[in-house]
Amino acid sequence: MQIIKLNATDSTNTYLRELSVNKELEDYTVVTANHQTNGRGQMGTNWESQSGKNLTVSVFKDVSWLGVANHFFISMVVSLSLAKTLNEIMVMNVKIKWPNDILSDNYKLGGILIENIIKNNQLKASVIGIGLNVNQTIFDNLPQASSIQNITGRHFSLEEILNMLVENLMYFFNELQYKHAFVELKQAYDDKLFRIHKPSTFKDKKGNLIAGYIHGTDAYGNLLLLLENQVIKSYGFKELELLY
Ligand code: BTN
Repeated sequence: MQIIKLNATDSTNTYLRELSVNKELEDYTVVTANHQTNGRGQMGTNWESQSGKNLTVSVFKDVSWLGVANHFFISMVVSLSLAKTLNEIMVMNVKIKWPNDILSDNYKLGGILIENIIKNNQLKASVIGIGLNVNQTIFDNLPQASSIQNITGRHFSLEEILNMLVENLMYFFNELQYKHAFVELKQAYDDKLFRIHKPSTFKDKKGNLIAGYIHGTDAYGNLLLLLENQVIKSYGFKELELLY
C-alpha cells in the first residue's frame, strides 16, 4: 500500500484527485493529513477535525470494473468497512445513517465523501474520503458528534485504525469485484441502517417534514420509505435528510 502522509493540506480528497490527474496511481494509494485547512463534507459542508487527533484520509480506488449504475456499492463497501473496523475495536451499536454517516449510540463518529472519476460515462476510479473521529474529546457546537475515545474510554493509534480500515476496504471490494456479492453487501448495509423499521422524521429539500419508516434501499442506493399512507416511496441522495 502506497501511503502519503501530509502534515497539512487543504483537503486530502482534493490533493489525491489532483495527484491522480498528473500521475498513474496504485490501487489503494492512501493520503493522510494531520490537519486540513478546507476539509470538505457532504453537500458542500465543512469537515472540522482537531489536528492530529482523528483520521482524515483519502483512498484512491480503481473501480473501472464497476458499472456506473452500481456506483452506490462504493458507498456501501466503505460504510461496511468502517462499521467492521469499529466492531473490531469494540465500538458497540454501530449504525449507518443513510447514505453514509457512521454512528454509534446515535452519535456521528465518521463521515464519507466519495468523489468518482468518470470518463465517457464509465467509472474509472474513486477518491474515497473518510473522516473518523478517534481521539478528539470535545466537539464545540456539534452536539451529534462524538469519537471512538469518548465512546470506549480508550485512546487509539491512528495508524493502527487506518491499517485495519484499508484491510477491510480490500476485503469488501474484493467481495464485490471477484465474488459479485451485490445481494449480500446490500443486505448487510440495509441491516445496519440507523432507524430501520422505526418511525422516523425526515426533511425534504423544500424543508417539508415527512414521517415514515425506513424500509431499506433500492438497487441504486435510494432510500425506501414506508409512508403513513402505506405507500413505499424512494428518495435520492439530495432529496431527503433524516432528522435525529
Ligand atoms: C460528511 O460526513 O459530510 C463527509 C465528511 C468527509 C470528511 C473527509 S476527511 C478526509 C477527506 N478529505 C476531505 O476534505 N473530506 C474527507
